[in-house]
Amino acid sequence: MLRALSAAAAVVIAAVGVAFAAAEADHPQDYPFSFDSPVGSYDMASVQRGFQVYNQVCAACHGLDHLSYRNLGEEGGPFAVYRVRDHETGEPTLQVGRPAHGGTFVDVVDNPYVRAIAETAMINDIDPNSGQPVERPGRISDRFRNPFPNEIAARAVNGGAYPPDLTVINLARHGGADYIRSLLIGYDGEVNGTLYHNRYFPGGWIAMPPPLGEGVVPYTDPEVPQTPEQYATDVAHFLQWTADPHMEERKRTGIVVLAFLIVLAGLMYLAYKQVWRGESH
Ligand code: HEC
Repeated sequence: MLRALSAAAAVVIAAVGVAFAAAEADHPQDYPFSFDSPVGSYDMASVQRGFQVYNQVCAACHGLDHLSYRNLGEEGGPFAVYRVRDHETGEPTLQVGRPAHGGTFVDVVDNPYVRAIAETAMINDIDPNSGQPVERPGRISDRFRNPFPNEIAARAVNGGAYPPDLTVINLARHGGADYIRSLLIGYDGEVNGTLYHNRYFPGGWIAMPPPLGEGVVPYTDPEVPQTPEQYATDVAHFLQWTADPHMEERKRTGIVVLAFLIVLAGLMYLAYKQVWRGESH
């Protein structure tokens, strides 16, 4: 009897152990992103490539509902354009990204890159005359195109699972960009029905098929490898920007405030010395 009981207890303990093991996921890999430090900034080339990865791969299943196309070309955005003078000819030209010195920011309305990106997206709309659903080319004021009309439709084609909106996913998941990057490269090829084994996903089994393969997104810069690791790094970087587009501005303000406080502290000290000069205390 005692033996049977202890055997049963052992089974229960083992089962609980398995349950806990299954729920446990690997800690995300710590990647040295350029925005990590308190004074760090975005690597805009990586953000641009990450947009490309989102657009060509993730956008098939995930929306970016809180982002409009114009946001890409606002100051601090990956496709912000500046008017600069050409070094040799002196002619004014447009440059993507803030120049080291000089240059004037070009309003998003006049940004040809953002306009082209918006126009290649087909947006679902209602025809104002017939009232029928239609597709039309995007405008810069449009929100990003969502691949599904609603959650039921999204679940229906994803084996019942819902691909979450990615706009603020880096803030919504423990581990942030490190987790997103690790998740995208955490597959080991093991499949169970419609679920894929992923060592960084809580529970170990995710309904998202491995989205990134060797060379699936063509990069223009030949120096940048076209590997799943690089794609994952870039798209995680892009999603950090979508989640926190004003980070750089905020950090700059923080530095100015700190400098101000340091100067103020110095002045207060001198004032204190002046006021109490010659007093014994
Ligand atoms: C074929 C459709 C599909 C594609 C393409 C796809 N996903 Fe997913 N994704 C899903 C589904 C479905 C889920 C929900 C998985 C679940 O809950 O098991 C998901 C979940 C996620 C999650 C949330 C994981 C969590 O912790 O809950 C992230 C982050 C994510 N995807 C990022 C991406 C990124 C980045 C890309 C592009 C590189 C991408 N996905 C491409 C279908 C897709």
